Amino acid sequence: MKLSIERITKEYGQKRALDNVSCELTEGLYGFLGANGSGKTTLMRILASVSRPSSGRVLLDGVDISLMNEGYRDLLGYLPQHMGLYKNFTVHKFLLYIAALKGLEKGHAERKIDELLDVVQLAEEKRTKTGKLSGGMKQRVGIAQALLNDPKILIVDEPTAGLDPKERIRFRNLLQTMATDRIVLLSTHIVSDIEYVAKEILVMKKGTLIQKAEPHVLLGGLQEKVWTIEASPSEVGALQARHRLSSLVKAGDRISVRILSELKPDERAVAATPDLEDLYLYYFDEEAPK
Ligand SMILES: Nc1ncnc2c1ncn2[C@@H]1O[C@H](COP(=O)(O)OP(=O)(O)O)[C@@H](O)[C@H]1O
Ligand SMILES: [Mg+2]
Repeated sequence: MKLSIERITKEYGQKRALDNVSCELTEGLYGFLGANGSGKTTLMRILASVSRPSSGRVLLDGVDISLMNEGYRDLLGYLPQHMGLYKNFTVHKFLLYIAALKGLEKGHAERKIDELLDVVQLAEEKRTKTGKLSGGMKQRVGIAQALLNDPKILIVDEPTAGLDPKERIRFRNLLQTMATDRIVLLSTHIVSDIEYVAKEILVMKKGTLIQKAEPHVLLGGLQEKVWTIEASPSEVGALQARHRLSSLVKAGDRISVRILSELKPDERAVAATPDLEDLYLYYFDEEAPK
């Protein structure tokens, strides 16, 4: 399977939300990383065929998805960034409703719902009204609905927002398992969601795709650009004024200052192993992350 994104541009009036984005995706988990407003949701809506590009096209195995109609929707699972659940519906009724929209036969839908409630560990909440669920549980219902038709392409937009750390890990593992024989696209501005699981990371900035590479390749680009200095607390202010700081970690009565710098920032500086947090700051330093 190959999803080809060809020179996609999307304009909302004067606002260009996507600017000439091209890339190719095959089976595996892709992490879209970018600050708020960088165009992740716009791109995912186009890939989920709920929105049309202003120009450019998306091809699945060489066929324009806008010409595939139902054929494409049948292959697709989509968890929108803000998905509404009908709060008076039980989990079961909501999933049955979505299954009907997707054209699943009722008996098959019932079996699939039970199977998926086990997968997302919500079997005990089957008869609970969705309005009574925690944020993390709601997200898991969202994932279950996206999986009802056993999609070959799964698109999840900031799915870990509102999940606690344990739920986030479980969710990451689930997506990773799914990605063995599917194209899975995950957008996030939380680096740890994708650091160890993504086949490739796509870095979006201001509507353009500025990087697409395996995590270790992206991080390789930061070699000798991340440094640590063991400083005294009184020095921190001066270092902060002169350098781009990635983090400050208290180490006894000293402070380990992590600095992003093209050149060795100080005699005492030691090169550090770059991580995706550094990468994120490297690209998005001037934009305040949420
Ligand atoms: N329906 C819309 N009308 C006007 N502008 C929009 C609309 N949707 C998104 N935008 C703008 O497009 C840009 C990209 O937004 P979005 O795709 O939501 O980014 P992200 O998901 O990365 O936060 C932002 O500047 C946003 O304000
Ligand atoms: Mg978004």
